[in-house]
Amino acid sequence: MRHILIRILLAASALAPYSAIALDIQLPPETAVFKPSELPGYTLVQRNCTICHSVHYIQSQPPTSPRSYWEATVKKMRVPFGAKFPDEDIPAIVDYLVKTYGAERNSKTMALNTANKPAIIVPMAASSLADAKTLLAANNCLACHAIDNKIVGPAFRDVAAKYASKTNAAALVARNIRDGGANKWGPVSMPAFGKLSDAEADTLAHYVLSQ
Ligand code: HEC
Ligand code: HEC
Repeated sequence: MRHILIRILLAASALAPYSAIALDIQLPPETAVFKPSELPGYTLVQRNCTICHSVHYIQSQPPTSPRSYWEATVKKMRVPFGAKFPDEDIPAIVDYLVKTYGAERNSKTMALNTANKPAIIVPMAASSLADAKTLLAANNCLACHAIDNKIVGPAFRDVAAKYASKTNAAALVARNIRDGGANKWGPVSMPAFGKLSDAEADTLAHYVLSQ
């Protein structure tokens, strides 16, 4: 799936006179992919669990989460959220998740994961840009915001301009992203994004302020 997308983008960029298209090609950094494993669930999660949201949703679950939690979460992705994978794949998916991100991680799977880690060093700037884009997509920010023009919420460029001279801009904006609220830009309110971690809110704030 990702393969096909990249090939289409490459083909498009070869034809397009604007390099902006080429800049949009971002391979996900190491942190945005599932940990490699010999468990059969590894291929299943790659196929089924990044259609609607990023791997961050799985990586950010408490590492103590037991098998029952992962099973309930995976089942919830189907009903009510609408994921489409067959019943018989659930045990293998759950097995991979609990042994890789949950309570049943052990030294063997950990060692395997480290051994398989590709030795690619992603430059910090590129990886936080990709993280920001992943977070924007996973949280539907772009349903209400655009870089250059107002949709429901203010253009990110206007937000950056408003905060340009403030010293603690990133912290303020990160807090406003998490808390939501109204009346800074108009009467319409932005929903709270309380599930974002400090680091995620910070990544998004820096992204917005760099526009
Ligand atoms: C059809 C879309 C869809 C697919 C496919 C999907 N999810 Fe989700 N997932 C969601 C939605 C919607 C949420 C809730 C988003 C929110 O609350 O912001 C979510 C949230 C999560 C969370 C966060 C915890 C929670 O309970 O909200 C985890 C973990 C998760 N998904 C794991 C998975 C795994 C593992 C798979 C693959 C088996 C998967 N998802 C596939 C739609 C999907
Ligand atoms: C349902 C629509 C909606 C969604 C989704 C949404 N926003 Fe907003 N956003 C708004 C509105 C409306 C405002 C103006 C609020 C105000 O006037 O105080 C706003 C304001 C902002 C601001 C300006 C805050 C400030 O300090 O002045 C930032 C930055 C921002 N949003 C970022 C985001 C990010 C990042 C996301 C995704 C995590 C997001 N928004 C999702 C509607 C939305």
